[in-house]
Amino acid sequence: MGLVTGAALADFGLNVHCIDSDAQKIETLSSGTVPFYETGLEELVNCNLRNGRLTFSTDLEAAVRASRTVFIAVGTPDLPDGTPDLSQVDAVVAALAECMDDYKVVVTKSTVPVGTARRIQRLLREKQGRPVRFDVVSNPEFLREGSAVEDFMRPNRVVIGADSEKAVAIVKEIYRPLTLNETPFVITSLETAELIKYACNAFLATRVSFINEMANLCENVGADVHHVARAMGLDDRIGPRFLQPGPGFGGSCFPKDLVALARTGRQLDAPQRLAETVIEINQRQRDRVFSRIEGELGGLKRKKIGILGLAFKPNTDDIRGAPAIHICRRLLEAGAVIQAYDPAAMPNTRRVLNDRNLVLCPDAYAAADGVDALWIATEWKEFRNIDLPQIKSAMQAPVLFDSRNVFDPEKVRALGFRYFGTGRPGPLP
Ligand code: UDX
Repeated sequence: MGLVTGAALADFGLNVHCIDSDAQKIETLSSGTVPFYETGLEELVNCNLRNGRLTFSTDLEAAVRASRTVFIAVGTPDLPDGTPDLSQVDAVVAALAECMDDYKVVVTKSTVPVGTARRIQRLLREKQGRPVRFDVVSNPEFLREGSAVEDFMRPNRVVIGADSEKAVAIVKEIYRPLTLNETPFVITSLETAELIKYACNAFLATRVSFINEMANLCENVGADVHHVARAMGLDDRIGPRFLQPGPGFGGSCFPKDLVALARTGRQLDAPQRLAETVIEINQRQRDRVFSRIEGELGGLKRKKIGILGLAFKPNTDDIRGAPAIHICRRLLEAGAVIQAYDPAAMPNTRRVLNDRNLVLCPDAYAAADGVDALWIATEWKEFRNIDLPQIKSAMQAPVLFDSRNVFDPEKVRALGFRYFGTGRPGPLP
């Protein structure tokens, strides 16, 4: 998110210094290489490196002195109890406080619990070497992985939370190019801006969980969840997005933000029971996929299972919170041998699942070779075009679990597969 913000703001015509404490990362980025997969980002970084508006460095002090606005985009990973770890935010704020030489606008981009902006104000005041004026702004970012650059450049809205008109004007000016496409600005208080981000993610996750539960019901009555979702989506009070059923949502935001929201609600005596339930439904959706594979294969010990897709969604190499990784781990623990293929996420998978019973394969056909069942966990586009007869002849038994409903059930069954989709009528007994 930091890199997308930096490169995109440079592209807006601003001079941007991107700072990270990891010297290796800075060196890689300075040479124009983006060390992860994100559509269009490397081109954007290189273009703005060449025109001199984007620089990378580990020198926080020099960058802060040269800038009026400082965006904080550090990670807020989960602590073991599920709360966001704000130590990186605190560390960067302490460093900032020491080197602020003039009025600064300090903007939080990272998703942080409500109250964090006030805490940053306090910390800056406490830790300043000499008193310098500053304003804190909450400017949550809504970009999605895989379409991050596009989302940043064409947001549905820009949210600016602040209690100073001067700071609002400065941040608005930064986003001025977006006014060309009439992007709405929501100007509000710090606390409201912080909550908006959680409200959006929790609501979207709720939609996904809603359709997943509806899918489970569809399976039991022989109905088709896609027709349900389509008809729902055509109601313009509901809209069609985020109604794709699957093995449960993952990623670095939805699961973490729901836990944080639920906790904030408990702490502040405003329980977020819907968020709490969505967390539970999402876990059960994963369990359901696992149990179905186990049930259909009559146990998992020494069973060979192919997995297509490991990333939490297509077009990213990110496996954080991925249902594929969670379920793969459980299958391995239950004694299965896994052959997996993903177009981008295999190096990251190997880092977290270093198990000799997990074989990472060069393509889908190798992953299907000799398996008792094949599971489509992530809907990468290339899976739509795989040669199913070839896949079938490679498999030991033609059992196909299609969690993302990539295939047409009738066509696949006509080829002789025993096919299980999500929320669509199952195979005849
Ligand atoms: C999300 C938010 O969309 C974004 O605004 C925020 O800034 C960060 O979190 P991201 O995590 O990149 O973005 O992924 P997103 O496309 O929202 O998908 C999240 C998860 O939900 C994925 O695992 C995806 O497979 C799942 N999903 C999404 C579904 O199962 N069904 C859907 O209909 C939509």
